[in-house]
Amino acid sequence: MDNNKEIVLSGIRSTGNLHLGNYFGALRNFVKMQDDYDCRFFIADLHALTTNPDPDELHANVKNIVTEYLAAGIDPEKATIFVQSDVPEISELYLLLNMHVGIGELMRTTSFKDKARKALGLKNDNTADEDDDKIEQQIIGADSNKRVNAGLLTYPTLMAVDILIQKAHKVPVGKDQEQHLELTRRFARRFNSFYHTDLFPEPTNYNFGAAAVKVPGLDGSGKMGKSEGNCLYLIDDEKVLRKKVMRAMTDEGPKEPNSPVSLPVQNLFTLMELTSKPEVVRNFKDAYANCSIRYGDLKKQLAEDILAITLPIRERILELRNDDAYIGRVLREGGERARYYAAQTLREAKEIMGIRKFY
Ligand code: TYM
Repeated sequence: MDNNKEIVLSGIRSTGNLHLGNYFGALRNFVKMQDDYDCRFFIADLHALTTNPDPDELHANVKNIVTEYLAAGIDPEKATIFVQSDVPEISELYLLLNMHVGIGELMRTTSFKDKARKALGLKNDNTADEDDDKIEQQIIGADSNKRVNAGLLTYPTLMAVDILIQKAHKVPVGKDQEQHLELTRRFARRFNSFYHTDLFPEPTNYNFGAAAVKVPGLDGSGKMGKSEGNCLYLIDDEKVLRKKVMRAMTDEGPKEPNSPVSLPVQNLFTLMELTSKPEVVRNFKDAYANCSIRYGDLKKQLAEDILAITLPIRERILELRNDDAYIGRVLREGGERARYYAAQTLREAKEIMGIRKFY
C-alpha cells in the first residue's frame, strides 16, 4: 500500500472452494508478492454471476473464498482484499469500456466458446472449427437466449476493467487466463490510442519469471477445474484427499526402458513437480524410465506432499471461518481502499471520454 510500489491485481470467482489449480496458478503467488508490491486481491462475485448461481450459494462462496485467502497467508495488513461488487465503479467503467470492444473478438475468445459449447450441450472440443458456426447459429437462435447470456460474452471486458481500473502492472493468474490478459492489453492500447492518453498501463502475467502454471486433473484430463469435477480442494480432509489421489488415473506401466509417458501419468508427475522435492520427482522419473515404477508408491508420496501444503491451510480455514467480525472488517477496509483507487480512475476515464459536467 505504498505508492512507489508496482500495483498487482488478481481475483478468483466465488464459485466454490479453492482447489490446487487456484492455489498453484494464483493464490501461492498472491502470498509471495504481498511483501514487494502494492497488492489488491478480490473475490470476483460479479464474474460468478455469469453462470447464474443460486443466490445463497453465491453469498456463502464469497465468505469461503475470503476465508481461504486469509488462511493461505494473505495478510490484510499488507494487501488490500475486497469483494468486486463492493466497488460499483467497476460496473460503470465496464459499461464505458464495452463501447470499445467488438462482439466478434469476444465471440472468438476460447473461454466463451467453451462455456457456450457447454451451455448448448455441444461437444467440448475446442479444435473443432466447424462448431463455431453451430455455436453462432444456436446463440442467435431464439431458444438459447437464456443459456448463453450477454454477461458470459462480455466477461473479458469486466475482467479487463477489474485490472485497468486499479491501473495494475502485474496480474498473477494461471495459464487459462492468459488470453483474457492479452485482451486486456489490447483494450488498454485501443483506449489509450483512441483518446490519445496513457491512462491505462498494459498489464502482464506474473509467475516469478517462470511460465504460467496449468495444474492438471487426476482423471486424465488436461486441467483441474470445478466444472470438470476433478478437484483436490484446500479444505479436503486427510482421508478425502488421500482417497482422491489414490484413485488417480494411470496406465499399465512402462513395458520398455524410456517409454513415452501417457497423459494421466504425466499429470501425476506435473502435480508432483509442484508439490514434492526435486529429488523425489527425479527418483520416480528414473523409476519410470527403468520400468521399476510402482504407481501406488508414487500416489502415496504425492498425497503426503500435497497434504503437507494443504493441511495447515485447512486448519486455519476451520479456525477463521466463524470469525465474521474479523472477516467483515477486512472486507470493509479493503473495499474502501479499492473504491478509492477505482473512483479516481473512473473520473479520469469519464473526463477523457467527454462525460463532463458543465452544470
Ligand atoms: P477462476 O476463478 O477461474 O480462477 C482463479 C485463478 O485460478 C487459476 N486456475 C488455475 N491455474 C492453473 N491450473 C488450473 N487448473 C487452474 N484453475 C484455475 C486461474 O488461472 C486464475 O488465476 N477470470 C478469472 C477471475 C478474474 C480475474 C480478474 C483474475 C476476474 N477478474 C482480474 C485476474 C484479474 C477467473 O475466472 O478465475
